[in-house]
Amino acid sequence: MNEIKFYNGENIPLELHKVRIVQKLHLVPIERRLEALQEGGFNTFRLNTKDVFLDMLTDSGTNAMSDNQLAAMMQADDAYAGSQSFFRLQKAVEDVLGKKYYLPVHQGRAAENILSNAYVRKGNLVPMNYHFTTAMAHITQYGGKIAELLYDEAYVINSSHPFKGNMNIEKLEEVIKVHGAKNIPYIRMEASTNLIGGQPFSVQNLRDVRTIADKYNIRLVLDASLLGENAYLVIQREEEFKESSMSEVMKIMTSLADIVYFSARKLSSSRGGGICTDNIDIYKELEALVPLFEGFLTYGGISVREIEAMAVGLYETLDETMISQSPDFIAYLVNALDGQGVPVVKPAGVLGVHVDAMQVCDHIPQKEYPAGALAAALFLISGIRGMERGSISNQRDEYGNETYADMELVRLAVPRRVFTLSQIKYVEDRMTWLYENRALIGGLRFVYEPPVLRFFMGGLEPVSDWPQKLIAKFKEDFGESL
Ligand code: F0G
Repeated sequence: MNEIKFYNGENIPLELHKVRIVQKLHLVPIERRLEALQEGGFNTFRLNTKDVFLDMLTDSGTNAMSDNQLAAMMQADDAYAGSQSFFRLQKAVEDVLGKKYYLPVHQGRAAENILSNAYVRKGNLVPMNYHFTTAMAHITQYGGKIAELLYDEAYVINSSHPFKGNMNIEKLEEVIKVHGAKNIPYIRMEASTNLIGGQPFSVQNLRDVRTIADKYNIRLVLDASLLGENAYLVIQREEEFKESSMSEVMKIMTSLADIVYFSARKLSSSRGGGICTDNIDIYKELEALVPLFEGFLTYGGISVREIEAMAVGLYETLDETMISQSPDFIAYLVNALDGQGVPVVKPAGVLGVHVDAMQVCDHIPQKEYPAGALAAALFLISGIRGMERGSISNQRDEYGNETYADMELVRLAVPRRVFTLSQIKYVEDRMTWLYENRALIGGLRFVYEPPVLRFFMGGLEPVSDWPQKLIAKFKEDFGESL
């Protein structure tokens, strides 16, 4: 841990990088923010960034890139086949993730498509610690179902459990016995389990999953999109690894999986994605699908410049001073909000701060989407764009019924090395104000609901004139301040 003590005793994360390229931000007046929400169907995905002040929608493709990544992009080798850039990336994958065979894909969900196409058949079940939206959509698209097998502690918002992303080993074995190993194409483990608040699993848990996978001869697939941060928290929280390096922990984790896939938009602060394995048979099974869906095997739909950035970005995940920045800022904001009484997922995880809309908006029924409402309200009063991670992000069941989410969260992503501490303090300030005025927030209803991944482009409207009431209170307290 790179803890740097302040003489005055203050406990704040210190940036170990400097800013060399900047982008101007705009904080538009609250009236314009309301118009932007109306134009975007009260869905933060549909906002135009010209109306957004702090974009905390996601870390996907928004992590700051390093000088070395940008430099590498200038020496990309443009070739349809056999690009030298690809071979540099292949070596980086082997050095960092420890896997010999690598298949490039244009982003994480493309890997999910290929894996589901190759292995998921109608009636199959994929056990996992928890679903990610795109992973689940692809599995169900190919006729499969998922089983989420976390321990009960994972759903406790105010917890001190260090590894809420752990797979429930007893339930895993039970599910395999009930459904039969032959109906289970693979077990999926997601590093830093995104939708329950960026919560890691322990290496020991992954070893236990491996033991079960071996016992029943089932493949183990690791979603490594947030592997670096999971490894960082393993070093912080798992006794056995407190002296280990990032490289050691990441390699131990990947070595336990038969297949590792990732979104490079997250893992390596670039674009792209990949699937890697040490198993030649698996490689051969998947190989043919890359030219079909993505592009030739030495680019997989990724631009060569991004391939170079990805290679450098992969090596940079091994640098603890880089990988720690986002989790340390998140921990700072979680502690600050918690201190103000705002309910947030604890312990602090990775990717972002997760505000518990179920508690903040306990007056809004789940059918009126409390997390969607809170995300819209926060944007309205601050220009901060978070992401709904609740029932709107869930998909309807096979009969078309709503399936309410286990948790109604608003995720405030903290992409790597993007925000300053004063911006984080602004988030604390406005979120605290909103919490104190939470009774003014009202629900939402769909006016346009797409059939697949509805949260991306869906359109909603407020069920009452609550946005106007919130604006009136904002004006009362902040006057003409933006
Ligand atoms: N797996 C995990 C754990 C993810 O978080 C994501 C994306 C994907 C797979 C899919 O990757 O976007 O490159 O196709 N997460 C983004 C997010 C979208 O905002 O959390 P992709």
